[in-house]
Order: sequence, then C-alpha cells, then structure tokens
Amino acid sequence: MKILVVGGGGREHALCWKLSRSPAVTDLFCAPGNAGIAEFATCVGLDGGDVEGVVRWARLEHVDLIVVGPEGPLALGLVDACEREGLAVFGPHQYAAQIETSKIFAKKIMERAHVPTAEYRRFTDYAEAHAYVGGLAPPYVIKADGLCAGKGAYVIRTADEGEQALKEILVDGIFGDAGKELIVERFLNGIEASYLAFTDGKSILPMLPSQDHKPLLDGDEGPNTGGMGAYTPVPFVDDTMDARINRSIMRPTIEALAEAGAPYSGVLYGGILFEDGAPYVLEFNARFGDPETQPILFKMESDILPIITACVEGRLSEIEAIRWRKGVAVCVVIASRGYPEKPEKGKLIHGLEDLRGREDVMVFHAGTKADTDGVYTSGGRVLGVTALGETYADAIHKAYEAVSCIDFEGMYFRRDIGKKALLLSNK
Ligand code: GLY
Repeated sequence: MKILVVGGGGREHALCWKLSRSPAVTDLFCAPGNAGIAEFATCVGLDGGDVEGVVRWARLEHVDLIVVGPEGPLALGLVDACEREGLAVFGPHQYAAQIETSKIFAKKIMERAHVPTAEYRRFTDYAEAHAYVGGLAPPYVIKADGLCAGKGAYVIRTADEGEQALKEILVDGIFGDAGKELIVERFLNGIEASYLAFTDGKSILPMLPSQDHKPLLDGDEGPNTGGMGAYTPVPFVDDTMDARINRSIMRPTIEALAEAGAPYSGVLYGGILFEDGAPYVLEFNARFGDPETQPILFKMESDILPIITACVEGRLSEIEAIRWRKGVAVCVVIASRGYPEKPEKGKLIHGLEDLRGREDVMVFHAGTKADTDGVYTSGGRVLGVTALGETYADAIHKAYEAVSCIDFEGMYFRRDIGKKALLLSNK
C-alpha cells in the first residue's frame, strides 16, 4: 500500500515510524517531513497547506491512502479536496473539524450532546464583553473562537488581565478573523488528561489516556507551548473513569456531530479536565495530539494501518481493542533557545547516532533538517525523546538518560516530565 502522511512534526514522525512497521505498507511518503522521517519515508517538498498541490501529487503518484497530521490542512479542507478526487483519506472534513477550529461550534456540539464543559457566553462586541467580565470574579477564561496557533486562550487572574485580553482580541484584532468572536467561560480547576480515540463516525476505538505538559517551564510555569512532554497511561484514569469518558463525552460527541450534519471520521482528541473527580471537556482537537502521539504510538503493539483503513472505510466496529506494549511511555521534548516566541535555528545536533536502534528508546524528530555533515535544528520543538519503561520511574529515568546523550547549542527541556504521575502512582 502506498501512503502519504501530511505534516512534518514529531507527531508525523511517530505516525511514519508506526506505519513503516506495518507489513502492508510498501511505499511511505511524507509532505514535507523532516530529517527523522526521511529515515522511514520519502519526503516530498510540499506543505500541507498547499491543498491543491498535495491532491495533485497524490493523484499523479496513485497514492492509496493519505493520513493528515496537523489541524491546518484540515481547516483548509484537505480531506474534502482529496475525497472530491476519489482519494482515500484519514481525517475529518472541514465542517466537522470545526470541533477544533471553532470554540463556539464545539460548545454547541457539547450542548447538543449534554457533554460536561464549562458554562460560557459568546461575544463579538468589546463593550458588551467588557460589561460582562466586569461582573465576574477572576479566575475565568477568555478564548478566541478560531485557530490561533495555541495562543488564543487566556486564563484571567485579575480584572486588568481580562481587559487586556478583550482589547487584544476584539479591538486590536491580533488573531485576525480567528478572533472576531470569543467566549468567556468558567475556570475549571483540576488535573488534565488528553483522551484520543479513533472513530469512523459510528464507533469509537479509544487509545490510552495520556498527559501533556503545555507550559514551557518546570512546575507548569511560564508561557504555553505546543507541549513540552507527555506520558501514557495516566494513573488517575482507571477503567471506570475510562468507561465514563467514553459514555458521557466521546460517544455522545460523535453522535451529536453526525446529527448536526458533520459526520466525523479520524481521531477525536478530548482535552479533559478532572474537577472534583468529574471529567469536563476543556477543548476538542480534530487530530492526533503532539507530543501525546509519540508515547502513545511507541507503546502501541497493534498494527495501526488496519485501524486507520477501517476508519476511512466506515467499519471500525470490526476492529478489536488495541493491544499495548507493557509499561509506561514517556516523551521529553527538547526545544530550541527562544521557543516559543522566537526559536533559534540552524544548530548542529550531536548524539543522535548513540540512540539509534534501541527497542526501549526512540528519538522522534520535529524541527530538524538534514545537511551533508549532519542534522540541524530548524524549529522550536526539535526532538521528542521517548522511552518505554516498566514503571513511571523507570521510563522517566530512561528518557532523561537518553536526553543527556543529545547536545546542541541552546537546547532546552523540562526536567519534570512525568513527575505528577510518579507522585500519584508512587512507582
Ligand atoms: N499537545 C496538545 C495538542 O496537540 O494540541
């Protein structure tokens, strides 16, 4: 089978690595890919945002299946464009992907599905929003409606911060059309998990819950990033909670999307917050998470290709529960100095060779570029060093030991990835 993966980050490296292990995959391509992906797939010089270019290339090459990684191409309608040309594609249509690309769309679906989420109000007018938040006691949350590269959500802790956020979004228009409308919602207080599930729009096949580390600095301090590390499974989601999340969140959301004329196929990612032991949806994403995908796929034993094709062909109910390798998987992201604001680029990476070929450690590349004399940094998040261990302590130890083999000028990583799990599970 000839497959094209769209994207070029750590998530797509994990997808290509996993797909490359599938016996049915004969040719693997990735657009645009990165230096790590190039070891498993042929990188194609096309950006996922070039919808026409990707579709034209896939048709010319007679690709059998396209797997879309990031949200950008979904928001631009890549899945719809592929289907119009008769190409098989994994991911939701543009309209259904609004579950991620519009906070208001997501809230309406959740209302329809009676999914637990924070109460909210929506605004387009600064004066109205200002008057409303004037009557609120912080903390509360303001979110721009559209896609804002992870920067559109503000946790408001003082009245001044609230005023500033409303001004930035509705008056200064720093997010353009994505900030024409916003929501103000109740602040949910608790611990977070990422809940990813495959779906064909009728059935769902859950993956293991995972936990991301979004803030830049240890102790969850500093600005938000795309994610500085992740691990799976999580000690605070047991089988009972897992069943509850499926029953009260994932399944009703898929049903409500179908009822709303937005049948959903691909991966549905629920960002779940546990407040006083009850799960609430913070947000949905319309794709695999990054970096959650790296530890999840490293731990997955089942072949991923039959699952993906079953989603595309609408027969996911035929697929058995996913089998997992024993233990815990932890991914530590190494970023460039200056990330997330202004990451440095072009630094030679040392130490990658020492970690090659290990069954328990895998270095997934994100912002990397190969040159004749080695691999160089080319983005904010550079590598996702992922390890499998028997316990949280073992996996964390292995991941950081592997991180210590890597060196490039200005490299930065959090030193507390997985610490919450270690404290909660005590192993
Ligand atoms: N790790 C957060 C995300 O994928 O959006």
